[in-house]
Amino acid sequence: MCGIVGYIGKREKKEIILNGLKELEYRGYDSAGLAVLKDSEIVHFKAVGKLDNLKEKTKDFKSDGSGLAIGHTRWATHGKPTELNAHPHLGKFSYVIHNGIIENYQELKKELQEKGAVFVSQTDSEVIVHLFEENLKNSKPFEAFEKTIKSLKGAYAILLITKANPDKIFFAKNLVPLIVGKNSQDEIFFSSSDAPLINLAEDVIYLNDLDYGYAKKGKIKLFSNGKNKNLEFKKLSVSKLSAQKEGFRFFMEKEIYEQSAVSSETIMGRINENDIILENIEDDFFEDIREITICACGTSYHAALTASYLLERISKIKTTVEIASEFRYKEPLLLKDTLFIVISQSGETADTLQALKMAKNAGLKTLSICNVDNSSIVRLSDKTLLTRAGIEKGVASTKAFTTQVLLLWILSLKIALLKKEIDKDFFKKEVENISKVPTVLKVDEKLHEKIRRLSKRYLHGHGFFFIGRDIFYPLSLEGALKLKEISYLHAEGYPAGEMKHGPIALADSKLFTIALMPKSLLYDKVKSNVEELSARDATILALSPLEFEIADDFIKTKGYDHPMLEFFEMTVILQLLSLEISVRLGNDVDMPRNLAKSVTVE
Ligand code: F6R
Repeated sequence: MCGIVGYIGKREKKEIILNGLKELEYRGYDSAGLAVLKDSEIVHFKAVGKLDNLKEKTKDFKSDGSGLAIGHTRWATHGKPTELNAHPHLGKFSYVIHNGIIENYQELKKELQEKGAVFVSQTDSEVIVHLFEENLKNSKPFEAFEKTIKSLKGAYAILLITKANPDKIFFAKNLVPLIVGKNSQDEIFFSSSDAPLINLAEDVIYLNDLDYGYAKKGKIKLFSNGKNKNLEFKKLSVSKLSAQKEGFRFFMEKEIYEQSAVSSETIMGRINENDIILENIEDDFFEDIREITICACGTSYHAALTASYLLERISKIKTTVEIASEFRYKEPLLLKDTLFIVISQSGETADTLQALKMAKNAGLKTLSICNVDNSSIVRLSDKTLLTRAGIEKGVASTKAFTTQVLLLWILSLKIALLKKEIDKDFFKKEVENISKVPTVLKVDEKLHEKIRRLSKRYLHGHGFFFIGRDIFYPLSLEGALKLKEISYLHAEGYPAGEMKHGPIALADSKLFTIALMPKSLLYDKVKSNVEELSARDATILALSPLEFEIADDFIKTKGYDHPMLEFFEMTVILQLLSLEISVRLGNDVDMPRNLAKSVTVE
């Protein structure tokens, strides 16, 4: 949700801000804006829609030499994606950019309006700049900023610049990420994530909640709770693996094709013939654990559901799966002998982060499965296993999902070994199968071509059901989510055996059913469920290694003997199917409407 960048230094500021925002655009692309403060003058630009519109607007603007700049890319929470609602928000002589939600903005706004402040946007963020200028009437700039932050309730990453103190950027962070970086040329950078800082900053501080301060050329001052804090820099250790499409049409397509390679990374160093080695996690971490709760959102939740089958079946440990946004407010029973696992690609999802905090406060052991090192979730959890999928840019998650599931499979085996629930032969076979995953995930280009042709038939109709049983049920949820996100067609994932309890009433030739029919798990049961739908004229696309005559379309899979291998093979097929349907519909595959990659608001 929303991306923030800031820069103090002599380079062409517009370029640094625009390049930084490009890296963050996946976090929101409803509008973008930037402001440059130089020689006590502030120039700003805003544009609705993608960053290219802002680029076009600023093409003749030059901003080298001394000064500072801030930039923002927006995912709308309060107010439509209009220019007035775009950041930076303006006071009389100060500008602010903000990611998060100011929960008490209405009362603050009312008070400020009574004092004469004129609001022009519908956003919660605008209140920050007016409050700052109000406080400035009786205080020096930094004190005014400090007072402002104290009055705010909610989540925020804030950068504020003002003509009243033209050599500083004031910053504050609570509940959403903000990083400050520096280099040996005395340049200072701010960003919502690592990516924009690569090749610019050398050392970084991942700010903690309620940290605030200011930066000026070569100097950063950090505070918390009114007290000066030491600056604890870390080396920025991320490579520019990211951002190129490398010949693919879309990041999502590239990331689907990358799954084979990144899954090798996920496995690397973690399995051998006799054991599973989880870096930085001693075996005794799992001692005395009687239950597991896994908490996540969206695609990561689907990985969690898949894992619950594995943990109960292989590790014989009771596993409950929770949607983080529901978990937070249900007053859950948190029992001490429960291992609390959170799964998150970004490591910044607000609901998942808060659920993790609740578990920590209740004294539970916590483990995160995450793709972004140093993210808020990684820093908060007791232990972390990184999925090692590399930066995922496509808003629709693909390689993060497969690596999460793979890692959770490995984790299930580890727990099973420690609990002595499996014998050596079983373990050996599992390890052999795990090593096959990178091959299974390799995209067969002929199959991709077939899916491209097939996708034509599935553009219209009145909806999709993805159906499967056991681990193929969470996969059906994931298949439906992928399709919804990027094609905007209605799709549901459903347990195949549940269709007759209601949804089958929808069946007719315009109801498209994608049936997941692995041979290694409950084939006959799913087959009967699909036949019931076919008898009611539903159009069936079956994924199976076994011929299935009544299907209207059929994708023959390879027929692996292990359900997890069939699972991974079908995952790729479902990802490609939604990709190709979206392309045919002319949608923006990588930046689908209304979505953002990292959901840092609840
Ligand atoms: C779907 C998707 C989202 C995320 C969800 C959680 O393709 O990407 O559903 O899975 O927003 O995000 P993370 O995993 O970053 O916590």
